[in-house]
Amino acid sequence: MSSDAVTFRRMTEADLDAVLKIEYAAFSHPWTRGIFIDGLKSYEIWLMFEGNQQVGHGVVNVIIDEAHLLNITVKPESQGRGLGLLLLDQLMKRAYELNGRECFLELRASNQSAYRLYERYGFNEVGRRRDYYPAVGGREDALVMACTLTD
Ligand SMILES: CC(C)(COP(=O)(O)OP(=O)(O)OC[C@H]1O[C@@H](n2cnc3c(N)ncnc32)[C@H](O)[C@@H]1OP(=O)(O)O)[C@@H](O)C(=O)NCCC(=O)NCCS
Repeated sequence: MSSDAVTFRRMTEADLDAVLKIEYAAFSHPWTRGIFIDGLKSYEIWLMFEGNQQVGHGVVNVIIDEAHLLNITVKPESQGRGLGLLLLDQLMKRAYELNGRECFLELRASNQSAYRLYERYGFNEVGRRRDYYPAVGGREDALVMACTLTD
């Protein structure tokens, strides 16, 4: 990893273009501008910076004591250097502060790098939703993972 310090801050509407640039570069089925605009009203959206470069974003929602990780994205050129784990850790700490004591997430069954990241953090696979996601040429299953949050 470079020596530039990694920092986090909340997203605002002024960050939309920069977030969408990373989102569209990283996903085959990205979240749209409208989803992020709605998301800013309902969820916590965090940005990650390496020095002054924006390198990722993540979205978390907490209802009573249950957290949901809704999006986690690292800019493709910055992947594979441990930034995903740092971002996940920041989002889970924030979820805990908001009173989340267990976190759930869904991911595409084919998304092995995300699966390994979540497993490394402490998530376990707890279920599968058939044909949950649109995919090129059809549908794809979602895996459901869960993790107990502690301080
Ligand atoms: C999933 C995602 C967020 C992971 O981010 P990342 O920054 O690449 O994650 P990490 O760097 O922490 O881990 C990725 C790999 O790099 C390796 N790695 C971590 N630190 C490293 C280092 N210092 N040197 C070399 N390799 C390292 C990890 O071991 C891991 O390897 P593995 O996948 O073979 O297990 C990222 O791939 C991404 O944005 N993907 C597209 C969007 C997406 O699918 N999001 C999840 C939707 S559910």
